[in-house]
Amino acid sequence: MAKTQLIKVDKKNPDREKIRQAAKVIKNGGLVAFPTETVYGLGANALDENAAKKIYCAKGRPQDNPLIVHVCSIKQLDYLVKEVNQKALLLMEKFWPGPLTIIFDKTDIIPSGTTGGLDTVAIRMPRHPVALSIIEQSGVPIAAPSANISGRPSPVCAQDVLEDMDGRIDLILDSGACTVGVESTVIDLSEDVPMILRPGGLTKEDIESVLGNVRLDPGLQEGQRPKSPGQKYRHYAPKAHMTLIEGPLEFQVKTINELAKNSVKKGLDVGIMATAQTRHLYRFGKVISVGDRNAPLTISSNLFLVLRKFDRMGVSEIFAESISKEGLGLAVMNRLYKAAAYNIIKGT
Ligand code: TXA
Ligand code: MG
Repeated sequence: MAKTQLIKVDKKNPDREKIRQAAKVIKNGGLVAFPTETVYGLGANALDENAAKKIYCAKGRPQDNPLIVHVCSIKQLDYLVKEVNQKALLLMEKFWPGPLTIIFDKTDIIPSGTTGGLDTVAIRMPRHPVALSIIEQSGVPIAAPSANISGRPSPVCAQDVLEDMDGRIDLILDSGACTVGVESTVIDLSEDVPMILRPGGLTKEDIESVLGNVRLDPGLQEGQRPKSPGQKYRHYAPKAHMTLIEGPLEFQVKTINELAKNSVKKGLDVGIMATAQTRHLYRFGKVISVGDRNAPLTISSNLFLVLRKFDRMGVSEIFAESISKEGLGLAVMNRLYKAAAYNIIKGT
């Protein structure tokens, strides 16, 4: 493939000509990386099986991992899904556009190459003006996974997309950093109690405020079988070996200090993922604060950036603090568990 083009697009006021150029690539069966409020997506025409295939190829993504289909209006669902139930309608009206993906039974118009062979399709309406304009201009729903090489931390800025996708895709639209920083929440509404298949940018508490009781897919725990195919793969992984420390904050800091000291003694390059509250408490390694414990959005929006930063610094060991699983913390901890491949030290 020819060189990947990178074009800057104003987030609030996307230039129509640039959007038209991107939409043309999509219509012609090509690949465009574009910003959403969660992470950068790698987009292709969701109705074109060959275009979808190119996504799997560019990412090195397993074929059975279905793609999320992005729309710019609820009306588009008329021809994409068999039925919209009452719960879905309530959620869409309240939270779309936004970081929420809903699973529906698909119609035949969506090729099985887009859904990893499943009869269901995951649909979301992103909140980012650039994402919405490309979907609108291209006139087709856009399949878009996160624009990273499979298994790597998701990209939350255009530079991170370029790092993984240079030479593999046609075009990257650069509108700066994503605000949410973790992917959308994926929800299955087919049973009595709605089930979150992937915690994400819309909190469980927010969904419960509309639907009442909601549960987390029990298969999300280590060693279980998750309902969402993508959740079974190792994911978000930095190059370094990573250990996540859980328990009272004092325990976390003490443990990380001991581990870092030992690793540094062995001559290893150590990275510590700290928080604004604790960063000054570490005496060894390269310390980066991922954000403020009292403002979870600062942490979610920084999480993948920090993991990639440690990679660029060339550290070989990362010790990471954990945070509360309330609100956005649930998605952050889900990503940290996977990034650390469930290598966890728990204290009481
Ligand atoms: O925020 C996001 O959702 C981003 C941006 C670009 O929109 N996209 C994203 O896509 O995270 P991806 O491909 O990285 O993750 C899609 C997740 C996977 O875990 C996949 O298994 C799940 O959605 N998924 C897709 N279709 C599904 C289906 N029909 N049933 C169950 N899970 C599905
Ligand atoms: Mg992904």
